[in-house]
Amino acid sequence: MNCFSVRPNILYFDHFDEFTRKFLIGPKDLLITNQKISDTWFREKIKTAALIIPSDYSEGEPSDQMIEYIYNDILYTAYDRVIAIGGGSIMDIAKLFSLKQITPALDLFQKSVPAVRSRNLILVPTTCGTGSEITNISNLNMISLHTKLGLTDDSMYADYAVLIPELLKTLPYSYFAISSFDALCHGVESYLSPAATPFTELYSKKTIDMVLRGYMDIAAHGPDSRFQSLDNYLLAGTYGGIAISNAGCGLIHALAHPLGSQFRIPHGQAVRALFTTVLKCYEKYAPDSKLCILTGYLSDLLYCAREDALERLEALIQAVLPFQPLHTYGVRLTDLRTYAPNIQNLQQKLLKNSPYQPTLKNIDEIYRSVY
Ligand SMILES: [Fe+2]
Repeated sequence: MNCFSVRPNILYFDHFDEFTRKFLIGPKDLLITNQKISDTWFREKIKTAALIIPSDYSEGEPSDQMIEYIYNDILYTAYDRVIAIGGGSIMDIAKLFSLKQITPALDLFQKSVPAVRSRNLILVPTTCGTGSEITNISNLNMISLHTKLGLTDDSMYADYAVLIPELLKTLPYSYFAISSFDALCHGVESYLSPAATPFTELYSKKTIDMVLRGYMDIAAHGPDSRFQSLDNYLLAGTYGGIAISNAGCGLIHALAHPLGSQFRIPHGQAVRALFTTVLKCYEKYAPDSKLCILTGYLSDLLYCAREDALERLEALIQAVLPFQPLHTYGVRLTDLRTYAPNIQNLQQKLLKNSPYQPTLKNIDEIYRSVY
């Protein structure tokens, strides 16, 4: 049994200049980033590389349509290295452009076309939550299926995951909050996953510990206190990525995918909306799961009784990233009715990492309770 692996080499630089000196970005590079990062960090320094700004092609999270547009735009661009500097969406796109055949993306994601690596891949996170720099997963919104799908393939591991805490200094608080919450959710879901091992549990618990200690600082001293611990948040995001790349995400992520796809709810917001309700379902439907061990761990971190741990956790999260019901994002009850069969058909890879298997009725109840 293979219980643990970390594939990318991990590099750590205090400053972005150290990264550019090490990697000497040039004309054979395809650089994928967003406009703000390009303007802030390197537009004047790196002029020779081909630059892709995904939001120039379509709005929102990456989709199969966006991949098609970018692919057509760079059809005659020769590149042998893909460098992504950005959040999870940027890295999801970059992983695909390191492959030999990229389109049609649906064929790739449904495995009728094999994923074959043909370029080097360097991933630099500028948020502190997806852990995508360390995983072999790319998530894409499939327009025709009205949901996100994940492609997991070892051909998409980066050659280098590069951590540069300086890049987080310009991350606005709202993005910081949703990305760090995603890291927390990765820690929790990977810890509870039936695929967890003693090795993954170390990373899951450390992720939870680092994010919650930071959140307690924010609750006590305000949002700017995050600047004292940006390196910790960045590490927590990567630790969470290591945990999910080995033990997987579960029900919370499965239920979040159609919300991101159909209503463009940012991923961290979608998992935030579902988080506590799903954990309470675990308490109810999987009383023998590892949740009881987790609540013991949380009670130590949060200085409360075990039976109060989930309530205390929710209150702390609320101070950092307030709960927003789904209707505030434009979701309608009629939409939610269609989701449960969709989840059971398309998200089995995530559902198998849930401590219990929800029925259609149960999935519907979860959505309604956060509506
Ligand atoms: Fe996530």
